[in-house]
Amino acid sequence: MMLTADMQRVVTEQQLGFVATVTPEGRPNLSPKGTTAVWDDRHLWFADIASPGTVANLASNRWVEINVVDPIIRTGYRFRGQATVHREGPTYEEGLARMAAGGSTTGRDRVHSIVLVEIEDAEAVISPAYDSGANPSDVATRWLRHHADLHPEANTR
Ligand SMILES: Cc1cc2nc3c(=O)[nH]c(=O)nc-3n(C[C@H](O)[C@H](O)[C@H](O)COP(=O)(O)O)c2cc1C
Repeated sequence: MMLTADMQRVVTEQQLGFVATVTPEGRPNLSPKGTTAVWDDRHLWFADIASPGTVANLASNRWVEINVVDPIIRTGYRFRGQATVHREGPTYEEGLARMAAGGSTTGRDRVHSIVLVEIEDAEAVISPAYDSGANPSDVATRWLRHHADLHPEANTR
């Protein structure tokens, strides 16, 4: 499937996906990937820097689900697809180049692989906060305050 412009916007803005795989025993494995990004209009990707469990699971089951949610607006997307792990070659090199272009200082010595996920299915996820008629600005105000209260040391302007 083609990733819509809004799907690509949310992934690019958030820079954080929660990636689910399945262990050989059939148990779920979920972990955050702050390198989650749009590769092209059919693929998402992330860098395996510290993800031995995810990559080991992909050896026996290539299916993944990735959730990307804006924690302030409290909407996002869940993406499902099959992953390929690139430990060398053009896709690995392109991933490293994109990381460097984005300002990352994480070099090839720390990037074990680039994981490319061909998205086969995606759907929006929306907080039940919207069920009662709240609008995005109400929700954003509430959760911006919540996060500012959690981090009083931060300079939030
Ligand atoms: C906010 C955040 C972002 C992270 N981003 C990445 C990432 O992009 N790539 C990576 O390999 N690990 C990343 N990690 C670390 C992994 O999530 C962590 O090592 C996790 O335990 C890996 O689990 P796994 O081996 O089951 O994949 C991140 C952790 C956090 C908290």
